[in-house]
Amino acid sequence: MAWSWIFCFLTAAIAPAHAQQTGEHPDWPRWCGKVYQPEYPNFDPGGQTLPPPVPVAPCEHLLHVLFQPRYSLYLDSERYGEFVINAEFSQYYGTPWPSTNSSSKWANRLIFSIHVAENDEPLVQDTVLVNTTSNVFRFELNRLEPSLTPIEVVLYGAPENGIPTWSTTTTLLYFPSKSSGSVTRIDNLRGGLYLSNPSTNHTFTPFFPFGFYASYDGFLRENDTGLIDAYAAHGLNAIIPLTIYNDSSAILDYMSETNLPYFSSLRDVYRNLTLLRSALAPGLLSSPGLLAHWSADEPDGWQDPFSAPEAAHALLRSLDPYHPVAVTLNCADYYFGPYSAAADFLMADVYPVGLNNATYSRKWDAPCNVTYGDCGCDNCEGTVWDVAQRIEGWRRHERVLGRGSIPKTILLNAQAFHGEDYWLRDPSPEETWAMVLLAVHRGAKGVISWLWPASETLARAHGALARVLTRGPVLPFVVGGEGPRLVVDVHVDGSSSEIVDVASWIVDGKMLVSVVNGGYVDVGNVEVPVPNATVIESTPWGSAEWKLEEGKLSVPLLPALAGSIVIVDLLG
Ligand SMILES: *[C@@H]1O[C@H](CO)[C@@H](O)[C@H](O)[C@H]1NC(C)=O
Ligand SMILES: *[C@@H]1O[C@H](CO)[C@@H](O)[C@H](O)[C@H]1NC(C)=O
Ligand SMILES: *[C@@H]1O[C@H](CO)[C@@H](O)[C@H](O)[C@H]1NC(C)=O
Ligand SMILES: *[C@@H]1O[C@H](CO)[C@@H](O)[C@H](O)[C@H]1NC(C)=O
Ligand SMILES: *[C@@H]1O[C@H](CO)[C@@H](O)[C@H](O)[C@H]1NC(C)=O
Ligand SMILES: *[C@@H]1O[C@H](CO)[C@@H](O)[C@H](O)[C@H]1NC(C)=O
Ligand SMILES: *[C@@H]1O[C@H](CO)[C@@H](O)[C@H](O)[C@H]1NC(C)=O
Ligand SMILES: *[C@@H]1O[C@H](CO)[C@@H](O)[C@H](O)[C@H]1NC(C)=O
Ligand SMILES: *[C@@H]1O[C@H](CO)[C@@H](O)[C@H](O)[C@H]1NC(C)=O
Repeated sequence: MAWSWIFCFLTAAIAPAHAQQTGEHPDWPRWCGKVYQPEYPNFDPGGQTLPPPVPVAPCEHLLHVLFQPRYSLYLDSERYGEFVINAEFSQYYGTPWPSTNSSSKWANRLIFSIHVAENDEPLVQDTVLVNTTSNVFRFELNRLEPSLTPIEVVLYGAPENGIPTWSTTTTLLYFPSKSSGSVTRIDNLRGGLYLSNPSTNHTFTPFFPFGFYASYDGFLRENDTGLIDAYAAHGLNAIIPLTIYNDSSAILDYMSETNLPYFSSLRDVYRNLTLLRSALAPGLLSSPGLLAHWSADEPDGWQDPFSAPEAAHALLRSLDPYHPVAVTLNCADYYFGPYSAAADFLMADVYPVGLNNATYSRKWDAPCNVTYGDCGCDNCEGTVWDVAQRIEGWRRHERVLGRGSIPKTILLNAQAFHGEDYWLRDPSPEETWAMVLLAVHRGAKGVISWLWPASETLARAHGALARVLTRGPVLPFVVGGEGPRLVVDVHVDGSSSEIVDVASWIVDGKMLVSVVNGGYVDVGNVEVPVPNATVIESTPWGSAEWKLEEGKLSVPLLPALAGSIVIVDLLG
């Protein structure tokens, strides 16, 4: 277990009761820990995710062993479970791996054994090559008793002829099946969400949520099923209704009936466990349409106590262990570790388009930088690339925190609004598509945009890409596929190849390649290496007409902000 988790817990537990907000100068108005009104002086807001001290001589390799169940939960209707094991060399975490001159085939292998902690029942005994990730091992679930009690599992590891020096634990959930309602689980290997409900015939099915946060006033309050039909008719397949079940049960039940999975919206009640408990109406928890619970909304922006999302998560787990809990974060790096701790998956609010200046807030008449100010998008430059930067930044934080390469699933909250004196205009459809694809290239597993009702233009734009990402040939790649792998050595005429972003996924001998021109000018002669590709099978998105020759996809022109998705067959 990473020290940061223990640290977070202590910080939360010893925070004085009167300090309602985290960070420095809690009595001053702040966002992401920073003051933003010109009468307040600049100071270091703190909360940056910094690496721990390097504990050993640099010549020693620390082996950091992490493991998790493949899926966040299993049901008693399943036969097999899996564990995902990462055994990486780390600068900061783990135990020194002995150097050896042995030429035995075990020399570079960690010999491990996974047991149920309570009764020592062995589940897996095997080896992994050191400095590898995403190793998957199967076991039979019938060696366990299904129940709602989490099962503590422990991994012991040892080098050849060595004593077991590695010991790490995780929690396995093995639940009784439900005969009604829904179950959602997370794939801890690839990050995707899987939904099981009557519409999937109670089978876990890959699900890429693509929809909006939906407002109460002007939409849900109307209690008009026609408005829900129109929303879904755009091609959107998920929704976060900004209401609690009791206030809108008829319209939420209609979403269930028409197979529009929704999140419970608990942001207004999550800090008060009494209110939270009463918002979790039985009709909500047994709803076939319930996809996930959404607890904290930008707790890092508001500097909410770290303990609030944690307490909400614990209560949600106890009342409804069958659905994951999502937390939305807004800041680039304000106590990312503590604020993300209570998230089964994260949602990223990053709204960079049409900023009324990324470095100077007209709203507050004050500058914005890493320690000061609020320009509407934390530490942003005001381009579609801020979306990529945010996700990459959070991934870096997770590595620094020792969560290694079992990162949390992230959904993008794409910008579909303007106003509040921060944003002068809506994103264009092209900017919207570029932001979504840049996020998907970095592993985002869903899109929930702010805010519905959106302009007709953005409603259509979101629906058009949703129809491609959430179904058909693309879904199995972006949710369950091996990837994404960012493709380097892309060739573009001129010197701006880094402006073209390319990612690939592989499933069953086919590769999906997604290409985005992230710049505001057209680029010529784009060439993407696709070794082993034999034939273009389809082009599910975009109008680029690719040629496949000599292991390269090429197109003479990729217009400004254009995206393209191509599926190719691979050799063999
Ligand atoms: C950020 O802006 C504040 C206010 O102008 C200034 O005092 C501070 O030095 C700046 N910080 C950085 C890191 O540029
Ligand atoms: C491995 O062999 C080298 C060269 O013979 C020797 O210097 C080193 O001490 C050996 N290392 C171990 C761990 O035995
Ligand atoms: C471990 O793997 C990483 C990533 O593949 C690599 O950069 C590094 O050199 C490897 N370390 C050792 C000691 O092999
Ligand atoms: C649903 O699942 C049941 C039990 O596994 C199976 O018998 C039935 O054929 C399935 N129905 C459909 C439509 O897939
Ligand atoms: C919403 O409409 C349904 C069906 O007409 C009705 O039963 C329900 O009472 C209405 N709910 C509210 C909150 O108005
Ligand atoms: C939580 O909400 C309940 C019900 O509205 C209220 O009585 C209680 O005072 C609240 N608790 C806190 C700590 O605000
Ligand atoms: C929701 O309705 C249930 C059942 O009618 C009730 O017990 C609960 O207190 C209500 N919760 C809220 C927040 O109104
Ligand atoms: C943003 O504001 C700064 C400071 O007033 C100014 O120098 C800069 O040109 C502005 N940038 C844009 C894009 O308007
Ligand atoms: C191409 O296929 C060969 C043979 O299957 C394989 O060894 C090689 O790794 C593949 N190359 C890439 C880049 O996928």
